[in-house]
Amino acid sequence: DWSMAAYRAEMQKKIREQVGSGRVICGLSGGVDSAVAAVLIHEAIGDQLTCVFVDHGLMRLGEAEQVVTLFRDHYNIPLVHVEAEELFLSELAKCGADPEAKRKTIGRLFIEVFDAEAAKLGGADFLAQGTLYPDVIESVSFSGGPSVTIKSHHNVGGLPERMKMKLVEPLRELFKDEVRVLGRELGLPEAFVGRHPFPGPGLAIRCPGEITKEKLDILRKADAIYLDEIRKAGLYDVIWQAFAVLLPVRTVGVMGDYRTYDHVCALRAVTSVDGMTADFYPFDMNFLGRAATRIINEVKGINRVVYDVTSKPPGTIEWE
Ligand code: XMP
Repeated sequence: DWSMAAYRAEMQKKIREQVGSGRVICGLSGGVDSAVAAVLIHEAIGDQLTCVFVDHGLMRLGEAEQVVTLFRDHYNIPLVHVEAEELFLSELAKCGADPEAKRKTIGRLFIEVFDAEAAKLGGADFLAQGTLYPDVIESVSFSGGPSVTIKSHHNVGGLPERMKMKLVEPLRELFKDEVRVLGRELGLPEAFVGRHPFPGPGLAIRCPGEITKEKLDILRKADAIYLDEIRKAGLYDVIWQAFAVLLPVRTVGVMGDYRTYDHVCALRAVTSVDGMTADFYPFDMNFLGRAATRIINEVKGINRVVYDVTSKPPGTIEWE
């Protein structure tokens, strides 16, 4: 008779067995998975755990503050907040437009930052991550097809040789919906448990082409307006994941008496059970018109909005 309460106790026993009296650091991404992993591990081993939140400058509007508030103030879990925007953006600037180069760079920098933070804490024996079952699968093969890497998930695939920390991944057997059940079981606030998934590489993979702070700022504003409209329409919980993408394409428009030449913003929304397959969300056209008008009126740098009607497969949920 399988239940989440039993799973919780079982996992905590396993975590204690694995780490013994070792020190663990856990990377928080702002997403549900790493938050659930952190709370689960903290319950199991207390302050042997330190959480590390790396602000890579690729977070959404206000997200960094929300994470820090939840963990420091609400949970009282030791948390190191690393300001790494300059590091990430300067290294990403060297990647050009190549999606895999961006992903690999972000993965490498995460490891470097965690290594450095672990050293500052006097050494850590384990690195905890909120890796889920679909992350494990998708990094290895594409269902039904040959073994091909579709995307390098930055949090899967083990660690470089030189890294001494071992991995703790208590959610490796779970799907997203199960992680949410576990999160509720652990008493995480509903607003956090119900959050849409957010990828580790953050807005970098929603900004095709070269990454600049200017583009990220434009994207953050458009994304916040889109999600605000989705919440107002009562659709947030119906949709698995929704976000804006800033395209590296400029088109001509007209605003008042002026010609504009600005970016195109694509809107994405999908329904899914586990992220492995997904259907585009069939919004009412009035909703899309409203969101587009607000984005174009309120965000300088965008003069055209399009909606992505691709399901997965053949598309992926993220654009990179
Ligand atoms: P795709 O784009 O592969 O995304 O259809 C499936 C789900 O995984 C999320 N995603 C990631 N999550 N690290 C993560 O933690 C990653 O590198 C990563 N890439 C994609 C994506 O947001 C979607 O929910």
